[in-house]
Amino acid sequence: MRKRIAVLVSGNGSNLERLVELTGNGSINGTVSLVIASNERAFAIERARDHGIDVHTLNSSEYSNSICYCDSILEKLDDYNIDLVILAGFLKILAGRVLDNFKDRIINLHPSLIPNFCGKGMYGERVHRAVLESGMKETGVTVHFVDEGTDTGPIILQKAVPVLVNDTVKTLAARISEVEHRLLPRAVRLFCQDRLRVEKRRVIIDGGGDEDGFTECLE
Ligand code: GAR
Repeated sequence: MRKRIAVLVSGNGSNLERLVELTGNGSINGTVSLVIASNERAFAIERARDHGIDVHTLNSSEYSNSICYCDSILEKLDDYNIDLVILAGFLKILAGRVLDNFKDRIINLHPSLIPNFCGKGMYGERVHRAVLESGMKETGVTVHFVDEGTDTGPIILQKAVPVLVNDTVKTLAARISEVEHRLLPRAVRLFCQDRLRVEKRRVIIDGGGDEDGFTECLE
């Protein structure tokens, strides 16, 4: 059965675009059925509309607290019969019932090698700036399941990216973004094949790795 996917966004939406492309051409056994944006200025909204995907903007400032906000997200997910939620540059922290109802069914993308450069307030360019200031020679991308913490859930896939001597926030962000456009689809594809299991804090990929040619076809 094709999984029904909701993508939650706050900004550009390049990862949303990638998922729409790869579900649309059958590389991933799922359909992006719903996009939820946290603000009306997100360019991702335009991308979703261009593809004819239903978009709902839910602005947290219109709710009395984050639990009410997340409950209204949950309501939308239920309305659309969603199987899998992807946080693709979604800058709000999920809390409350949605975490229980979607346990091990919410995937987050983060632009560093967790547990480095993550947690509250660490998102987007802030992450790359902190990496450059630290002098680290390597950063990367993490795709993980969401739990009640911030960037603390079980890790599905990670990929290292070197930090180059002349890197700026912009050049590093661009190389990270290229890796994200491969790593997130790999994780989503595995989920849609029912191959991901969480045992304690570890994510087991049933049938071993996922090196079956999919990564190559993304090059
Ligand atoms: C991505 O780089 C993603 O890792 C980051 O936001 C960007 C969204 O890009 N997410 C975080 O920093 C979450 N902590 P996109 O809007 O072009 O898909």
